[in-house]
Amino acid sequence: MKQASQSKKNTNKNISLLIDGAVYPLDIVTGTEQEVAIDISRLRADTNLITLDDGYGNTGSCKSAITFIDGEKGILRYRGYPIEELAKHATFIETAYLLIFGELPKEEQLLQFRKLLNDQQFIHEDMRHHFEGFPANAPPMAILASMVNTLCCFQPDFLSADEDTLFAEDAARLMSKIRTIAAASYRKSVGSPINYPRSDLRYTENFLHMMFSLPHQFSDTDPEIVKALDQILILHADHEQNCSTSTVRMVASSQANLYTSVAAGISALWGPLHGGANTEVIKMLTALLESGDSVQTFLDKIKRKESGVRLMGFGHRVYKNFDPRAQIIKEACSTVLQKLNIQDPLLELAIELEETALTDEYFIERKLYPNVDFYSGIILRAIGIPTEMFTVIFAIGRMPGWIAHWRELRTSENPRIYRPRQIYTGETLRHY
Ligand code: CMC
Repeated sequence: MKQASQSKKNTNKNISLLIDGAVYPLDIVTGTEQEVAIDISRLRADTNLITLDDGYGNTGSCKSAITFIDGEKGILRYRGYPIEELAKHATFIETAYLLIFGELPKEEQLLQFRKLLNDQQFIHEDMRHHFEGFPANAPPMAILASMVNTLCCFQPDFLSADEDTLFAEDAARLMSKIRTIAAASYRKSVGSPINYPRSDLRYTENFLHMMFSLPHQFSDTDPEIVKALDQILILHADHEQNCSTSTVRMVASSQANLYTSVAAGISALWGPLHGGANTEVIKMLTALLESGDSVQTFLDKIKRKESGVRLMGFGHRVYKNFDPRAQIIKEACSTVLQKLNIQDPLLELAIELEETALTDEYFIERKLYPNVDFYSGIILRAIGIPTEMFTVIFAIGRMPGWIAHWRELRTSENPRIYRPRQIYTGETLRHY
């Protein structure tokens, strides 16, 4: 299935480059939300020049019809639907279907997708033995990336991006198994027996069962808590060309399979500037609480840029006003803590840090606001999820986005391999 190109060439604007007296007209590409880009795809062929954009802050790497973000206005939409509406009314599985297949599922489609997820939830018994090879304190993100790659060895017949039925199976297989693998990696890390998934439970509840049930006692989680975790997964489900998603697309562009492309995305997500930030926020809040330092003293250290200290969970490459996901999570945070009757000093500290930072010139000037990671860890902690698993939860949530981008790239009209260039700054010719 080829994706229809949603963008168009805009003929109203004229842009040209003037190089040594020669004029090179450049096309303008306008997206459906009127975002405008200069098309430089012929630049090197015509002028022998390339562009240089460290960190890709000004580079559009692709056209995509999956997620729209307006960082100035704090807008996030999946396939056109505002994140606020999806977080309130949809389930994670409906959202995943929307991202992967482009439309919200009709009842019959949803039932069918749920069935696929159920059918695919077990991992091969031989794969379970792999867990025995990891040391007890192995980081769950390392286990997750390795085990998702290991799926390639157990599922050799997967490459079917063009075929809708088989692709739906592949997508369901990955979404369902990652949850089983994630829970198993936690059980392994605490020395508990690995729980089998249960077909009578919905996606998120099933994950909580695999995480927390004991052989003799089913962990029956309050529906409001299940809903809060489901909402966290929805909020993480996609975020256009972030570091891990770009990695998935990069790997996919070499025609690598879905599993191995996603395994690379998991590794990219692990970093503290990306998905690892939710773990770092809790570490930062705990250290601050234990140090007895005031919030202002801590912020002053950050502002002096002391030994690379940053306010974790703050700032975003795209959002320069507010992160809509952070607002939803902050609200959910109070609901969950109230429901569980938990007084968490870290929440009070987080609120004080946020309020103080938002009135501080350093943060105002740089347009630094709380991002999705600032409050998510406090909810996860309250639910009983250990800190090392926070980024794993992010990965489970981001799975539909990675799958959708992998498919979009593989079914695009001109799927070229991603291959940026560079400006060489090393030694010039020398001899041995
Ligand atoms: N604390 C203190 N200063 C900051 C922060 C922060 N969290 N973020 C940016 N700055 C400063 C930075 O020092 C720089 O100052 P100056 O202009 O004086 O050199 C300025 O703001 C611009 O920063 P940048 O590093 O050029 O911004 P970026 O767009 O490259 O980085 C970011 C974006 C998210 C990596 C960064 O804001 C950051 O490190 N935040 C903390 C980590 C974090 O919370 N990451 C999660 C991101 S959201 C979820 C996800 O995508 O995974």
